[in-house]
Amino acid sequence: MSRLVILSNRVPQAARGAQAGGLAVALAEAVRPGSLWIGWSGRIGGGTELAIQAERGMSCAVFDLTEAEHRGYYTGFSNNTLYPLLLCRLGLMRFRAEEFAAYEAVNRRFAATVLPLLRADDLVWVHDYHLMLTPDALREAGARQRLGFFFHTPFPPPAIFTVVPRARTLLAAVCGADVVGFQTASDRDGFLACVASLLNATADDEGCFMHVGRWVRTLVCPVGIDPDDFAQTAYEAAGHLPTQRLRQSLHGAALLFGADRLDHAKGLPHRVDAFDLLLRQHPEYRRQVSSLQVAAPSREEVPEYRRLRREMDERVGQLNGRHGEADWIPLRYITRATPRATVAGFHRLARVGVVTPLRDGFGLGASEFVAAQEPQNPGVLVLSRFAGAAATLDSALLVNPFDAEAIAEALNRALTMPAEERLARHATLLARVRTQSAASYAAKFLGALASSAVTTQEMAHV
Ligand code: G6P
Repeated sequence: MSRLVILSNRVPQAARGAQAGGLAVALAEAVRPGSLWIGWSGRIGGGTELAIQAERGMSCAVFDLTEAEHRGYYTGFSNNTLYPLLLCRLGLMRFRAEEFAAYEAVNRRFAATVLPLLRADDLVWVHDYHLMLTPDALREAGARQRLGFFFHTPFPPPAIFTVVPRARTLLAAVCGADVVGFQTASDRDGFLACVASLLNATADDEGCFMHVGRWVRTLVCPVGIDPDDFAQTAYEAAGHLPTQRLRQSLHGAALLFGADRLDHAKGLPHRVDAFDLLLRQHPEYRRQVSSLQVAAPSREEVPEYRRLRREMDERVGQLNGRHGEADWIPLRYITRATPRATVAGFHRLARVGVVTPLRDGFGLGASEFVAAQEPQNPGVLVLSRFAGAAATLDSALLVNPFDAEAIAEALNRALTMPAEERLARHATLLARVRTQSAASYAAKFLGALASSAVTTQEMAHV
């Protein structure tokens, strides 16, 4: 069996202690003993050597970024340019040529680091917007292995993607991969439309196209979780202190719960507005409903994230000042990373799961809420129609996350939903979370990659 080699900016080991990142959750089922995972150590320093550590039965090879690399590649081009671009938030996008140069250099560094470690029949899987230039850098350096790339974020249509300087370079570099994967059909459509307009290549009915003499296959393959494992974690966590304390403190009030990174794409201020509206329109919910928002700090070196943090502090304070009572805080707000098991327990306790990003690649919090519910008495999921998850979890109450009134209405509907409807919706959602699991994600992508027979080497003889 071929060895799996994963390349991503973060590796699971570097994310330890924080809320588990989506990447580590989604790939948990893909890594087998003997797999190799390469990425940033999470440290900024001058050291250039590769540290190889054993991690959950696989090897993790990590390296530090220099301060200049971190500033240009991670904070700069990845998070100030590509992330807002891919999430269609052009107003937040900034481009600096020197940051692109740093991004290019770090992508080459990833390729140069992995190349001497590769074996001929490895399956190499590159992840996320941080590494869009890596497939091409690997090909240029001579890698002939089967090579996959997966976009965890959405992918926009040409009218948006072409706004970024170097759009063609970025797109062509991804096409160094044999298989390119997306969360939803509309992300793949956006990518193929960009390929048609920037690279002049037309895809066949299967989403395959020719790029500089090689076939590139595209695949819709949404990420997932291990539902049984998460359900068990939630069940156990319900008996642990944090969940018990939360339950006692609610005094029977219904809990609305959301857990996100403190990120401008998550729609957190809009969510506060919606809850404010709910309390204004429905005075009967005073003391009967409490909301808890966990917002793990993220990318604090990016000014937009610091601005969001201040804005949220202000809005949460205003809401609690306006509606709170001496013995009732309507909106509880935690800006610290919270262990996954604690979040699982809170999901189980919640009457309503609130996952309303303005846009999101998938939104695994939605799957986690569904898996954590008590099947005989489940809560209701309120989900943004602009999260990739909405394509499959369409039995949730789907909302436009920009529309505070629509969210407030959905929250009210969730809080008053008859048991029969809750049970029916939850059963459908759980079935989807089960079929679209982390295991099926890995199996589908790696199956396609393993069978991508037309490697660069073989094409050379065609
Ligand atoms: C978001 C994106 C992911 C990305 C992650 C990186 O969740 O949707 O595609 O992997 O951010 O987060 P980081 O904390 O490493 O910047």
